[in-house]
Formats: sequence, structure tokens, C-alpha cells
Amino acid sequence: MRVVCPGSFDPVTMGHLDVFERAARQFERVTVLVTHNPNKQGMFTVEERMQLIEQAAADLDNVDVDSWSGLLVDYTTNHGVSVLVKGLRSGLDYEYELPMAQMNHRMTGLDTFFLLTDPKYGYISSTLSKEVARYGGDTSGILPPNVVEALNKKLA
Ligand code: PNS
Repeated sequence: MRVVCPGSFDPVTMGHLDVFERAARQFERVTVLVTHNPNKQGMFTVEERMQLIEQAAADLDNVDVDSWSGLLVDYTTNHGVSVLVKGLRSGLDYEYELPMAQMNHRMTGLDTFFLLTDPKYGYISSTLSKEVARYGGDTSGILPPNVVEALNKKLA
């Protein structure tokens, strides 16, 4: 079965990568889908985010990367995908994810499978990583090495 892991990934974190790896163990093909979120001002362009994910997930043979700017359900319908996989860190994520998952299901029957985040990544987010880096903090172990480098370069 092919599944989609959607998100902004601005930029991809170790927590995201853990979800991709675990999804890749359970499903034949995993497409990481970088989506444009008009409510979030991006630091990296969609192309940069895709490249960072491709590099960080290069050793995962059944993981590929794509982008999309419309409704997720249109992408999944066009590509014959019936399942999304997302990480769930906390009750806050649950509150945010629940209506989206239910709306997607209402629209096309698209299901969302949630993977509970490994506790060691439970507090990690793209937003906090950018804040730590912006003030000169160390993001190694929080972000994949290629992303640490790209973020530091962007902020230099
Ligand atoms: O990483 P994010 O920003 O939390 O991801 C949110 C995402 C990409 C899943 C959400 O913004 C999304 O689904 N965007 C695509 C547009 C869409 O389908 N919106 C309706 C969802 S019910």
C-alpha cells in the first residue's frame, strides 16, 4: 500500500524523519508531501524543503518526496492513495489534527493513521528549531545534519 505523509516541513525535523522511517517499515511506498500552508510564513521554499527531505531520507528506498498546493484529498484521489500517516506528539496535536482528519474523511473517505511520536522527539517542532537556531542555539540532534547546516547558512 502507498501512503502519504503530508506537512509543511519548514524544515523537516528528526521527529518527522522518525515517522517516515516507521511508516516505511509498515507500508510499501511512502510519499512525503510538502504542502503550501497559506497560514504559515515559510523560511525555506517548497523546493528547498523537498531537497532537504530527499537528502535526509536518502537511505529510505521506499520513500519519495512530492509537493502540492491544493486540497490533500485531490492529491490522494489523483494518485490512488487512501491513507495519510501523521505523527502525534500530544493532546495539542490531537486537537489540531482531529478536525482535518474528519474533514478529509468526509470529503473522500481518506483515512488518517496516527503514529505516536517517540518520546525523545515529543517536544521537537520546526517552529521551535528555527527559534533555537535564530538565537544561536544548537539544533544538532533536533534536526538532521543537512538541515542544521542549511538553517545555519540561511540565518548567517
Ligand atoms: O505541517 P502542518 O503545517 O501542520 O501540515 C498541515 C497540513 C499540510 C496537513 C494541512 O495544512 C493541509 O492538509 N493542507 C492542505 C490543504 C487541505 O487539504 N486543507 C484541508 C484539510 S481538512
